[in-house]
Formats: sequence, C-alpha cells, structure tokens
Amino acid sequence: MKVFQGKNLLLLLAVLLLTAVLAGCSNSSEAMEDKQETTDLSPDEILNSAFKEEFPLQYESYLKNMDSPSEHTSKFITEIEPNLPILFHNYGFMLEYNKTRGHTYAVEDVINVARINDNSIGSCMTCKSTAVPQLLDDMGDEYWGASFKEDIVPRTVAYGEGGELEELGEYGHLSIGCSDCHDPVTMDLRITRPSFTNAMDRMGVDVSEASKNDMRTYVCAQCHVEYYFGADNGKVTFPWDNGLKPEDMFEYYEDQAKDQDFDYDWISSISGAPMLKAQHPEFELWSYGTHGEAGVSCSDCHMPYERTDGKKKISSHHWGSPMETVEQSCRSCHGDKSEAELVNRVENIQEAHLEAMHETQDHSVKSHYYVNRMITAGAPEDKIEEAQYYVRKGQWFWDIIAAENSDGFHNPQGGMDAMRTSSDASNQAIQIAIAELTKLEVDLEELEREIEKVVADVHNEEDPFKKHEHAVNEYFPNVLELD
Ligand code: HEC
Ligand code: HEC
Ligand code: HEC
Ligand code: HEC
Repeated sequence: MKVFQGKNLLLLLAVLLLTAVLAGCSNSSEAMEDKQETTDLSPDEILNSAFKEEFPLQYESYLKNMDSPSEHTSKFITEIEPNLPILFHNYGFMLEYNKTRGHTYAVEDVINVARINDNSIGSCMTCKSTAVPQLLDDMGDEYWGASFKEDIVPRTVAYGEGGELEELGEYGHLSIGCSDCHDPVTMDLRITRPSFTNAMDRMGVDVSEASKNDMRTYVCAQCHVEYYFGADNGKVTFPWDNGLKPEDMFEYYEDQAKDQDFDYDWISSISGAPMLKAQHPEFELWSYGTHGEAGVSCSDCHMPYERTDGKKKISSHHWGSPMETVEQSCRSCHGDKSEAELVNRVENIQEAHLEAMHETQDHSVKSHYYVNRMITAGAPEDKIEEAQYYVRKGQWFWDIIAAENSDGFHNPQGGMDAMRTSSDASNQAIQIAIAELTKLEVDLEELEREIEKVVADVHNEEDPFKKHEHAVNEYFPNVLELD
C-alpha cells in the first residue's frame, strides 16, 4: 500500500511473502466456512442485537466486551501519569481522563465523562456509535458542529428504543458495533467514517481498493487515530497530509492547520502557551513499527481465532489486551518463543516506555512553570512567545505517545524517539527562561523549590477531580487571569 511509499520494492515483496507464509499458520477458510452469501438484514441496520440471530457466535463474543471493569481507572494515579492535571491545565482533560474500556461502553462513557459540557459538539460521538453514519446521512455537515447534548445524544438514544436494550446496558446497543465494520447485507468489511477515507485519499491511498489484509487494519483506523476538529465546522479531520509520524503531524499543525485557522486546542493557564491535544494514534504508531511494516494487522493480534462451541472457529470480537490470549494472538507467528518469553518481552518494553514517559513529562511540567515565572517576572514578550513555542512542541511529542494506548508496544523505537524530541524541546524552553530570569535576578533555587511543592500538592490530593485546583497557587498564578 502507498502509505509505505519510498520503500524498496524488493524489500516490500519479501515482506509480503513473509506475511503470506505467516498468515498461513492460522486457518482463515475454516472460520469463513459457514458465512452466507447475503444476510436477511436491512442495508441500513445499526442495532447490534439485530445481528444476533444470524451470527450468534460473533454476537456472543461481542457481548464479552461488557466484561470490562465497571469502575473507571483514572490516568491521574501515581503509577500512570500523575502530572496530567498540571499538563492539561485549563482544558477538559484536567478534569477527567480515564483508561479505555470495552467498545460496548463507548456511548455511555462519552456521555458521562466530565469533559463533556454545554459547548461539546456532535463530532464527539463520531467514534462511539453505530448511529453516526446515519446521523451524517440525515444531517450532512451540520452533524459535526451540532450541540452534543441537545441534538446528538437524544437522537442517538432514540434510535435504539425497544429491542434488546437491557442486555447491553442503557446505551450499549448502539455503541461501536457490527455495522461500523461490516456491510450488514454482505458482511464484507467496510469503512463507515468519511474522515478516514478523506485523509487516506489526501495521502494518495484509495481505500475502496484496499486488500482484505489492509481492511483488517483499516476498520480499526477509522477511530484509533489522531484527529482534530476543523476550525470552520468542527469536522473530525486527520492531520496526515505530511505523513503519520509525530514530527509530520506537528509540522501539519504548524503549517496547514494554521492556514485553515486552526491554531490550538486550548491555552495553558500556567504557561499561557497555545497547546495541542493528541488523541490515541494506534494506527499511526503501528504503521511504522515492526509489526505494521511486516503487514501484521490489528486484527491478527486483537481478534485472534477462537473456538467457541468446541468445534467452530471464529474471529474473536472481544477487543482487549492480546496478552490475555498470547497463545492465539502471538504464538500463531512466534511459535519458537514460549508464552513466558513473549510476556517478558512485552513487559520489558512497557516498563522502559513508562519510565521514559515519566521523565519526559517531568521536563514538560518544569517548562510550564518556568514560563509562568517569566510572565510574572516581566520578561520580554518575544522571549516569552519563543519559550511558549517550545512548551507546545515539547508537550505534543510526549502526548502523542502517551495517548497511544499500547504503552509503547506497537512501536517501541518510535515512542522513544518522540520522547527524546519532547525532552529536548522542553529543555529549550527552560534554557530560554533561565537566561531571561537570570537577567531579571529571579531566585532560581526558590523557583525549583516552588515547583517541587506545587507538584507534590497535586500528587497528594486524593480526589482526581480536584487535583487540578492545586496546580496554580500564589507563587504560580493562573496567567490568563492576570491583568
Ligand atoms: C471493529 C470492527 C468490527 C466490528 C465492530 C465487528 N466486526 Fe465482525 N469482523 C471484523 C474483522 C476484522 C473480521 C475478520 C474478517 C476477515 O479476516 O475476513 C470479522 C469477521 C466477522 C465474521 C466472519 C467470520 C469470522 O468470525 O471471522 C462475522 C460473521 C462477523 N465478523 C460478524 C460480526 C457481528 C455479528 C458483529 C456485531 C456483533 C461484528 N462482526 C462486529 C471486524 C469487526
Ligand atoms: C467506531 C470507532 C471504533 C472502531 C471502528 C474501533 N474502535 Fe476500538 N475503541 C474505540 C473507542 C471509543 C474505545 C474506548 C471505549 C471506552 O473507553 O468507553 C475503544 C477501545 C478499544 C480497546 C480497549 C478495550 C479495553 O477493554 O480497554 C481496544 C483493544 C480496541 N478498541 C481495539 C480495536 C480494534 C483492534 C479495532 C478494529 C478491529 C477497533 N478497536 C475498532 C473506538 C473504535
Ligand atoms: C503484534 C500484535 C499487535 C498488533 C499488530 C496491534 N496490537 Fe494493539 N496491542 C498489542 C499489545 C501487546 C498491547 C498491550 C496490551 C497490554 O498492555 O496488556 C496492545 C494494546 C492496544 C490497545 C490498548 C488496549 C487496552 O487494554 O487499553 C489498543 C486500543 C490497541 N492495542 C489497538 C490496536 C490497533 C488499532 C492496532 C492496529 C492499528 C493494533 N492495536 C495493532 C498488540 C498488537
Ligand atoms: C501475523 C504474525 C505475527 C503476529 C500475530 C505477532 N507477530 Fe510479533 N513479529 C512478527 C514479525 C513478522 C516480526 C518481525 C520479524 C521478527 O523479528 O521476527 C515480529 C517481531 C516481534 C518482536 C520483535 C520486535 C522488535 O522491534 O524487536 C516482538 C517482541 C514481537 N514480535 C512480539 C509479539 C507479540 C507479543 C505478539 C502478540 C501480542 C506478536 N508479536 C504477534 C509477526 C507477528
């Protein structure tokens, strides 16, 4: 496929051959044996429960997504990313930011998260509900910028009245499901989100020509990607015109996005910097990692074949951690390694990744507070703006990696490279600040002590919803509230 342009053709052929050999170790024909030519379903079917009768095994597997923990895990805890309420200050993500749950919970989770407010727009529903393609059909481009609470939620929920509501939870029946990935009549894999098709098109890839193996990734890449809301109508847009790496997307935000009047997602009230928020780029990181380059699809690991009633093989529709199914998800290809060896490799990658993440986020925190001090000490405007640029850049390069949900596994090297760029940029902001603060005779030791104090205050607050309140204080005021 064209995404990997510039690759030596011979190498690509070799990789394709290897993939074909590897794919041979899982028997797909068996799984497809009882697939019918066409179903009795309407081409517009969006209710998940409507697929139950014809596909009871896949439906039963899908229901296992309800097994997700009922309690959310906040990312603000010490073991994950305790500095986020500082780093996202003045933005919804300082209020509530949780680890993912199963697909069946997506609609109720987006409705209930504290980030949603009266200004939230239709675009927020885009990767959550099977109702979205129909809403887009009905509303056209009005969908994106419509009021989430007033226009979108009532319509999404109303679509599902009656039927088998209860067994999937209050809204779960219309949560991410069959019609998002399958044509209800032929059950072929399909793309239902135009933002993906458009972005691929701008990269010169025609998705309608995609191979079956590419589709096993593309169905996921409709949602598991970085995006932003276009400045004019709030439309979900993928920043891929320059490529899929963090540096390509950063360049896009500095260049093409600004040309279209998109300057930032929010302004930090600590550093006053115009900030970008990154979102879950699983597809992008995967695409230039070892497995992506070898053509191993998302579904190979996340939807391994499973035997349901002791004889029939189906693709698992329970999307979660492949480490729960190492035998089927990994040993199908890595049969030369034991389960313990594979688990150990993944754990080592993830531990090194998280350690580097904590370090680079510490630099980012410092950069925000150093610039805060530049502002309160009266440093020259142009120097403040220069430092703010590096704060923005530093944060982008860790956030795009932290928002990726595999803790480094999909692309360990890509993660490490971006985090190094992040630390360099944050340190550059700090160096600019030190030069100016020294001229202004600011006590830098006191500044360091105050940073330690404010960080400790945020960490020590036990209520995740209140942590952000401690991120500004008398020494580090909210700079947006200064005269
Ligand atoms: C996130 C995307 C996605 C969703 C949602 C989804 N599927 Fe699938 N489904 C796939 C993929 C990928 C395959 C593997 C296709 C292949 O390799 O040909 C698949 C395969 C299938 C197959 C072929 C047999 C098999 O098991 O491989 C059936 C039937 C099926 N799905 C039914 C369903 C039903 C019913 C639902 C809703 C309860 C559903 N799917 C939801 C992605 C999805
Ligand atoms: C229509 C959008 C959409 C599609 C298509 C989609 N996902 Fe997701 N996925 C989500 C959202 C949203 C969440 C988070 C749900 C939540 O936390 O409530 C999620 C969560 C997940 C999780 C975490 C589950 C957990 O228990 O924490 C995995 C793994 C995952 N998706 C894999 C996949 C794979 C693999 C595919 C393709 C076969 C895919 N997804 C297709 C939107 C999508
Ligand atoms: C080579 C196997 C492999 C491939 C290919 C792969 N993943 Fe993963 N994925 C993993 C592993 C391993 C984890 C980490 C699981 C853990 O920490 O327990 C993971 C984690 C995730 C998570 C977070 C799950 C959670 O429980 O929070 C999501 C979401 C996800 N992957 C989506 C994708 C998408 C989308 C693609 C394709 C673009 C993809 N993955 C390709 C192996 C794979
Ligand atoms: C469809 C085949 C396939 C599946 C499934 C698969 N891999 Fe791989 N894996 C590969 C290929 C191909 C490579 C690259 C060649 C090599 O090093 O063997 C690779 C490489 C690796 C590497 C070395 C990567 C590096 O950058 O050094 C690790 C570790 C790994 N896989 C772990 C896993 C784990 C864990 C799973 C399951 C979650 C998994 N793989 C699933 C095919 C697969």
